[in-house]
Amino acid sequence: VSEDTRILPADPAAIAEAGALLAGGRLVAFPTETVYGLGGDAGDDRAVAAIFAAKGRPQFNPLIVHLPDVAAAAAHGVFTPEAERLAAAFWPGPLTLVLPRRPEARLSLLVSAGLDSVALRVPAHPVARALLRAAGRPVAAPSANPSGGVSPTRADHVAAGLSGRVALVLDGGPCAVGLESTIVDLSGPRPVLLRPGGVTREQIEAVLGPVEASQGSAERPNAPGQLTSHYAPGLPVRLGALSVAADEALLAFGPTPPPGAGAVLNLSPAGDLAEAAANLFAMLRALDRPGLRGIAVMPVPEAGLGLAINDRLRRAAAPR
Ligand code: TXA
Ligand code: MG
Repeated sequence: VSEDTRILPADPAAIAEAGALLAGGRLVAFPTETVYGLGGDAGDDRAVAAIFAAKGRPQFNPLIVHLPDVAAAAAHGVFTPEAERLAAAFWPGPLTLVLPRRPEARLSLLVSAGLDSVALRVPAHPVARALLRAAGRPVAAPSANPSGGVSPTRADHVAAGLSGRVALVLDGGPCAVGLESTIVDLSGPRPVLLRPGGVTREQIEAVLGPVEASQGSAERPNAPGQLTSHYAPGLPVRLGALSVAADEALLAFGPTPPPGAGAVLNLSPAGDLAEAAANLFAMLRALDRPGLRGIAVMPVPEAGLGLAINDRLRRAAAPR
């Protein structure tokens, strides 16, 4: 289905219109502090199905349900004491909790993709919060990109991938965090980190104590982050690059990039991981140019936000 996609600055009138579109079963792309989301009414099977169709996403991947506050989230998921502590520490913010789904939750069964759990998130971005209030309903929202591609951190990234497949894109400028939310599964006997993201593992463990990382596999993903190829630009991606060829692009990190690349962008000349996270997806897109052989990526430290950055880079570099 093709429709005209409008991009509007996220002012109060546009947010009100976007809320009305969501209430009417239509799709709206909107900024969050992590990445732009492709939103639809989480209680409406047809709207949720339209999200899957717009992304070309395999139906077995469940979606995150976005809510304005903890009280609204508690209507859909069972909050364990651990969930309450994480919500108190990190909501609103870049954290998603997978919780047992309440039997009475008024959510499409499709958002959970048949699981008896549900992923809930209270975003911090003021536009997202205003939109959730305007819509007056839970909003299912995956990242607003075609399935498998690089997540959007600016409104024009959304338009580049989903033009004609979404009624309205609210432009709230670039996303401050730049990486998707951290996902913690609290539906089982022990907390499991399903996806590293905007809240670091160290921050989660400061609240919960040691947390095990996902045992998901490419064959049996428990989150699409477990799919081998994801977040992939068009060009091949080469990791751990300490030197670079003239026909390669270089995604650098730190003060001393090697010379000789065909095109260079630096995630953070100062070596700052938060700056690198915010730049990651936009720079991968910008370096994804015809005429180059591939994108060489310098090593990024495996700590703090570096865990999430390296997770996305490994998916981007994985065999397609
Ligand atoms: O930062 C974010 O989380 C962004 C913004 C838009 O909020 N959203 C996002 O959604 O990244 P998406 O659909 O690209 O990723 C959703 C992740 C997937 O890895 C999915 O498998 C996992 O959440 N997920 C959702 N429900 C789940 C459930 N019941 N059990 C396990 N994983 C679940
Ligand atoms: Mg995604």
